Amino acid sequence: MTDQRIGILGSGDVAKALGRGFAKHGREVKLGTRTPEKLRTWSAETEGTVSVGSFSDAASFGDVVVLAVLGAAAEDVLELAGSENVAGKLVLDTTNPLDFSGDGPPGLLFGGTDSSGERVQAALPDAHVVKCFNTVSNAQMVDPEFEGETPPMMICGDDDDAKARTEAILTEFGWPGALDVGPIESSRYLEALVPLWVRIGANLDTWKHAFAVAR
Ligand SMILES: NC(=O)c1ccc[n+]([C@@H]2O[C@H](COP(=O)([O-])OP(=O)(O)OC[C@H]3O[C@@H](n4cnc5c(N)ncnc54)[C@H](OP(=O)(O)O)[C@@H]3O)[C@@H](O)[C@H]2O)c1
Repeated sequence: MTDQRIGILGSGDVAKALGRGFAKHGREVKLGTRTPEKLRTWSAETEGTVSVGSFSDAASFGDVVVLAVLGAAAEDVLELAGSENVAGKLVLDTTNPLDFSGDGPPGLLFGGTDSSGERVQAALPDAHVVKCFNTVSNAQMVDPEFEGETPPMMICGDDDDAKARTEAILTEFGWPGALDVGPIESSRYLEALVPLWVRIGANLDTWKHAFAVAR
């Protein structure tokens, strides 16, 4: 199987959901965090299918590297992971630069003319970054279940082969493929959907929703 080893940078809900999901779909998985000891119990619960190490351990381990950390910390985490450890690799960027500083639902720390996806690609010039999974709940990332039809996952990135490999993963995970919305610059618009996604979820009282294109 290609893309057999998956390194996931992160220890939160997304990292855990994708970690379990990739393992369930037959991959070898390593999660990376600043404090591996905090995931010992969780790792044991995966019955050894998901191992844990540092950010650089996980980055070196993966044929594919998933970035699943707080948006505001993404560039710091990549510094710790080491750009040399992801050179030439597919990097799935799940991050959103959400701004939680206000009283209400989050906004964006930056956007419109910039994005986390572009910053990640700039920090990893030799990697092939694909924005993926950022517009859906962690609970829906693997084997999604919607009341209606499952929409394709919106992705973007600069490398066609990297996007094809991403679509293969999505198909294996139960998505009806990918909706390619263009180069990594389109992360500006995928990330901007997320504050809207949160507001819609709050109004509809659901976190199992996703955007679909009607035509
Ligand atoms: N939650 C969802 O359902 C969902 C859905 C779609 C997209 N996303 C996006 O996916 C990303 C991950 O979300 P999440 O909810 O799983 O986790 P999160 O709470 O946003 O992030 C936790 C991770 O961020 C790292 N981190 C936080 N502050 C840091 C700092 N100052 N320096 C280095 N690392 C730091 C933590 O590192 P340590 O492990 O070292 O503590 C941890 O691995 C976010 O960008 C989010 O917007 C989330």
